[in-house]
Amino acid sequence: MKILVIGSGGREHALAWKCAQDSNVEHVYVCPGNAGTHLENKVSNVEFDLNEFSSIEKFSLIEKIGLVIIGPEQPLVDGLTDYLQSKNIKTFGPSKNAAQLEGSKTFSKDFFVKYGIPTAKYKSFDNFKDSIQYLHEIAFPTVIKADGLAAGKGVIICQNFEEAEQALNSIFNDKAFGTAGNRVVVEEFLEGEEASFIAVVSKDKIIPLATSQDHKAVGDGDKGLNTGGMGAYSPAPIVTKEIHEKILNEVMYPTMNGLIEEGSPYLGFLYAGLMIKDGEIKVLEFNCRFGDPETQPILLRLNSSLVELCNAAIENKLDTYSIEWTDKHSCGVVIASEGYPESYKSNKEVSIKENVDEDLKLFHAGTKYENGAVLTNGGRVFCATALGNDLKDAQKNAYNLVNNVEFEGAFFRSDIGFKGIK
Ligand code: AMP
Ligand code: GLY
Repeated sequence: MKILVIGSGGREHALAWKCAQDSNVEHVYVCPGNAGTHLENKVSNVEFDLNEFSSIEKFSLIEKIGLVIIGPEQPLVDGLTDYLQSKNIKTFGPSKNAAQLEGSKTFSKDFFVKYGIPTAKYKSFDNFKDSIQYLHEIAFPTVIKADGLAAGKGVIICQNFEEAEQALNSIFNDKAFGTAGNRVVVEEFLEGEEASFIAVVSKDKIIPLATSQDHKAVGDGDKGLNTGGMGAYSPAPIVTKEIHEKILNEVMYPTMNGLIEEGSPYLGFLYAGLMIKDGEIKVLEFNCRFGDPETQPILLRLNSSLVELCNAAIENKLDTYSIEWTDKHSCGVVIASEGYPESYKSNKEVSIKENVDEDLKLFHAGTKYENGAVLTNGGRVFCATALGNDLKDAQKNAYNLVNNVEFEGAFFRSDIGFKGIK
C-alpha cells in the first residue's frame, strides 16, 4: 500500500516514519514534508498547493494511494477530508464540520455547554465595544482568544483591564490575527496543571492513545511566551487511572456523542487540551489533529501499526482493534531557532551526527534539504525523541541526542519532562 501524509512538521515526520515501518507499506509520500521525510527510508516528498484539492486527488489516483493521513488543522478545517472522501480516496481525518471543534473557539465553547462538558466560563463577542463593556463585569487575570485558527498564537492571558483592552484592540481594530479575530472569546482564567489527552475516534468508538504532556512555554520552568510546544513526554503521571476514566466519561464520550447528534460524527485524532486541578478537569480547547510535539514521543512508544489503526478507524472497527505500547517512557526535546516564537532566521546549515539506536529518533520539523545539505526552515527545527526505562532515563537519552545536532542560533529548554519527574 502507498500512503500520503499531508503536512511538513515534526508530527508529520513522525507519522510518515511510523507508517514506513509497516511491512505492508510500499511507500510513503509527504506533502510538502521536510528534510527529515526526504531522507527517511521508503519516504519521499511531493509538492502541491494544499489549497488545490484537485491536485492532491489526481496524485492520489495516479499513485494509487491507499490511505491519506492529514496532519495539520488548516486543511482539515478547509474540508480536505470531505473532498478526498467524496472522490473515494481513503482519508483519515475529521470532516470540515467536525473540525470546527478546533476551527472556531465559539463553536467549541457553545458545544461544551450544550453537551455538559466541563470548561471555563466565557462569553463570545463579535465587536470591540461589547467586549470592552464585558471587561467591567469580570475578574482578572482573564483569557482572550481569537475565535479562528491563529497558528497557536491567538490566546492572550491578560493580568488586568489595560492588558485585556490592549488585546481586544489589537484583535478587533488592528486585525492582529486577520479574520480569525472577527470573533473573540473572553474566558475565565483557570489554574492547575495542563495535560494533552489524544484519542483516535471513529464515529461511536474511541481508542485513547498513550497519555502525554507538552511544555508550551519557551523557557525553563515554564516561563516566557507560549509556543506550539517546546517538548513533550509520555506517559504523563498527572493522568492517573482515575483522571483517565474521568476524561473519557466527562469529555471524550460526550464529545463523540455530541458530534453524532450534530450530524458530524468524528473520524481522526481528537486532542483535548485539559486543565487539571484537585482531581477536577476542564477542557481548555480541542484540536482536531494529533499534537505537535506530542506525536513524536507518543509514536516512539507505539509498538503496533499506525496504518492498521487508521484503517480500523476508517472501517469503524476500533472495538476489535488492540493497540500495543512499549512500557518504556519517552521524552522529546524541541530544538528551535533563536528568536522563536517571535521572529527568527532560517537557512542555517545543520550538522547532524548519525545514530542507529532504535530507542532514539531525531524528528525533523522546520528543515529543508537543498544541494545535499540540511538547512533550517522554521521556528521549531527538530524534536530529539528518546525512550528510557523511566522518564528520567528517557530525558537523559533525549538530551544526549540533542547534542548530535548543531546549527547557528539553536536553542532548547533544558528541563523537558520536569513536571513528570518531580
Ligand atoms: P488554547 O489554544 O485555548 O489551548 O490556549 C493555549 C494555551 O493558553 C493553553 O495551553 C494554556 O496554557 C493557556 N490557556 C488557555 N485557556 C486558558 C484558561 N482559561 N486559563 C488558563 N490558561 C489558559
Ligand atoms: N502541542 C500543542 C499542539 O499541538 O497544539
